[in-house]
Amino acid sequence: MSEQLQPVGVIGVGWVGLVTAACFAELGHQVVARDILSEKVEALSRGEVTIHEPGLEDLLRRNAERITFTTEMNELLEGARLLFVCVDTPPTYSGDADLSRVRAVVQELPEGSDHVLIMKSTVPAGTGESIRRDMPGLAYVSCPEFLKEGTAVEDFMHPDRVVVGSDPGDEGAAEAVEELYKPLGGEILRTDVASAEMIKLASNAFLATKISFINEIANVCEEVGADVGQVAQGMGLDSRIGSSFLRAGIGYGGSCFPKDVSALKMLAGNTGYHFQLLTAVIEVNELQKRRVVGKLEKHLGSLIGKRIALLGLAFKPDTDDMREASSLVLAARLQGEGAEVVAYDPVAAERAAGMLGSVEMANSAIEALDGADAAVLVTEWREFADLDWAAAGERMIRRLVVDGRNFLDPEALTGAGFEYEGIGRTVTSQPTANAS
Ligand SMILES: NC(=O)c1ccc[n+]([C@@H]2O[C@H](COP(=O)([O-])OP(=O)(O)OC[C@H]3O[C@@H](n4cnc5c(N)ncnc54)[C@H](O)[C@@H]3O)[C@@H](O)[C@H]2O)c1
Repeated sequence: MSEQLQPVGVIGVGWVGLVTAACFAELGHQVVARDILSEKVEALSRGEVTIHEPGLEDLLRRNAERITFTTEMNELLEGARLLFVCVDTPPTYSGDADLSRVRAVVQELPEGSDHVLIMKSTVPAGTGESIRRDMPGLAYVSCPEFLKEGTAVEDFMHPDRVVVGSDPGDEGAAEAVEELYKPLGGEILRTDVASAEMIKLASNAFLATKISFINEIANVCEEVGADVGQVAQGMGLDSRIGSSFLRAGIGYGGSCFPKDVSALKMLAGNTGYHFQLLTAVIEVNELQKRRVVGKLEKHLGSLIGKRIALLGLAFKPDTDDMREASSLVLAARLQGEGAEVVAYDPVAAERAAGMLGSVEMANSAIEALDGADAAVLVTEWREFADLDWAAAGERMIRRLVVDGRNFLDPEALTGAGFEYEGIGRTVTSQPTANAS
């Protein structure tokens, strides 16, 4: 059966590319995956998985014979006609999307190539049009990726929707892409290329807006004595609003939301349109992380010389991705206030260590809390909810928790003698047990 399926090429094997390669292999396709980093390609060829993503290791092991990792463009071009571009598009200094890696891929394609370039990387609207202008005759399809780190395999295999954008002349290429996705069963939406590109940016910007919105509501809740959890629940029951992305906390991070919101704002700005709402979304998100400092100061006074334990460093649980993680800003702010920062993360510690300079890295949550004046929950890893907080409290100088994700059980904590601060939660911050 697999002989009849089209081979698939993947360019760039980071979070999106590796998941794409593994999932198409699982569907029975032969996959050739190319990256420019030889050490990454060698590690993957040896069977080592380069990122932490639930279910990915199993998938790669099970389908090892169907996937070839290579640094060679020729091997990719010979191995597959349908080429998924999954290279990174980080922000430039100006906040626009940096398309240099995408451009590098296009420049490597031979003239008159009969390959189909399928853009999975998130790119500003207009990118496809300019690539087609530079490479007349190249078949081009926009197929933005919506997977979420932490549930990437699941999201790929069970998509809400698959967007396939093509312009006149490339209908056949778009149909070939549609065929690849049909077995997954999600709704397939056919659009033009510019609209597909906008769908991706608009979706991420909307979700980021929802997060900043509920964070502002949380801040108002703190002023008026309302509980943001109850407010979000009540709002979410309205089917026009929906309950997802209404969880207050210390703001969004990661490799996508910050850069995609900024890229959309800049894209609009470059056309002369000032996207005011996104300016506010970004600012609210930046300020939200910093509110933790005020919450600590409320209890501790000056932070000079205080030992603060950060629990969780990755930008979200179930990933070791540290790009634009809130922990980076928080650690720097706390150190700026004179605090001594110690941190623990179950999987991101190695990646984080190089980014966190003089932050002390602990080997466990308990080790991080030992001798700490306060704990700040930054990433909602399950193990922090399961932690024996009473035992941890015995080792802390002061039983104080700032729960940056509204993830812990405030009653259990105050019962164990902790002072508790959430984000917009109406729980008593005072301990109910008598603990020194
Ligand atoms: N990470 C996510 O959750 C996610 C979700 C949806 C969309 N996206 C988008 O997908 C794209 C990729 O994101 P990512 O997180 O996988 O990035 P990543 O940085 O993890 O991976 C990109 C990979 O591309 C490789 N690369 C760069 N230039 C190359 C070239 N010329 N040839 C071959 N390989 C090359 C890099 O070495 C790297 O391994 C971005 O545009 C991102 O915005 C990401």
